[in-house]
Amino acid sequence: VLVLPLLAGCTKKDNVITIGEYDSMSGSDATFGLSSNKGVRLAFDEINAAGGIKGKKVDLKMMDDQGKNEEAASAVTRLITSNKVVAIIGGVASGRSKASAPIAQSHKVPFVSPASTNPDVTKVGDYVFRVCFIDPFQGLVMAKFASENLKVKKAAVLRDVKNDYSVGLADVFVQEFKKRGGEIVTDLSYQAGDIDFKAQLTQIRSKNPDAIYVPGYYTEVGLIAQQARQLGIKAPLLGGDGWDSDKLSEIGKEAINGNYYSNHYTTESTDPAVTEFIKKFKAKYNETPDALAALGYDAAKILAAAIERAPDLSGQAIRDELAKTKDFAGVTGKITLNENRDAVKSAVVIQVDGKNRKFITTITP
Ligand code: PHE
Repeated sequence: VLVLPLLAGCTKKDNVITIGEYDSMSGSDATFGLSSNKGVRLAFDEINAAGGIKGKKVDLKMMDDQGKNEEAASAVTRLITSNKVVAIIGGVASGRSKASAPIAQSHKVPFVSPASTNPDVTKVGDYVFRVCFIDPFQGLVMAKFASENLKVKKAAVLRDVKNDYSVGLADVFVQEFKKRGGEIVTDLSYQAGDIDFKAQLTQIRSKNPDAIYVPGYYTEVGLIAQQARQLGIKAPLLGGDGWDSDKLSEIGKEAINGNYYSNHYTTESTDPAVTEFIKKFKAKYNETPDALAALGYDAAKILAAAIERAPDLSGQAIRDELAKTKDFAGVTGKITLNENRDAVKSAVVIQVDGKNRKFITTITP
């Protein structure tokens, strides 16, 4: 009598492959999780419609980390110990990935971040991967664009000191910009959650820079843009992928227009893989996919392909196949995972124009 329901439970479980995902679905970085999850779901829906992985349907368990490092860590613990996931699609924000990837590593559960660009994230161990480029490259891209394309000679920096990603990217920019003969006239900081940036911006105004590098997340960047223009600062703001959200222009309004940031993909691409993805995404969600949606889609497809190739569903087998990912034709470019489990890919520079994201140039590694 006891055996039957247990067996029934087993059979049901044997027909699915449980994969975990966690990210911010609420809080000031909510679009990171909302977008990447949309991309991930689109990918798994397509895979399930085509018969699943190894003939089994993917069952995705999504958890909200509310934009908090501790919640990211506990989400990963729960996915592994309660949901028994075979792999995890990890966080967008580098700080949250750094707080949670060590748990996946210690349980030998493969962890694939769609979008965490801080170099330290994959240094956690051999079960931690990412499908995006890293900040030493992203920072170089903007330093190069600033000095070569915009002819910036004097730059100011305004960094979020509470954010590993922001600090890392600011450091690379400073180094690469100076290498190109540029001068950093001031390097100031704020903390995520701040709403008044006038003190820092007043100081920046007194140095009269040609551009201001603000490698933060969209909520603060939107406010910084507004307050900079209110103070009469005309210099362009420059940033990184953390700007990429529809909310950026909702918060920054006209003040954010004309400013530039580095990103993972452009919706203006004519690559059929990209146009097809955008078409399917719009049909499902009635919105244009941002970079995170595209990276989530690529992360899910790469993970699914590795699981399909793996001889069994053990963490080790899936990990070994992930490490072999080569020339995967993703929406965000051709993806090869190198010996550090990072992707080496080109970046694009985007100019903000309301809700439009104007493609300016591609920079290859
Ligand atoms: N690269 C950012 C980080 O590591 C996250 C991010 C990626 C945000 C892409 C927006 C778009 O924290």
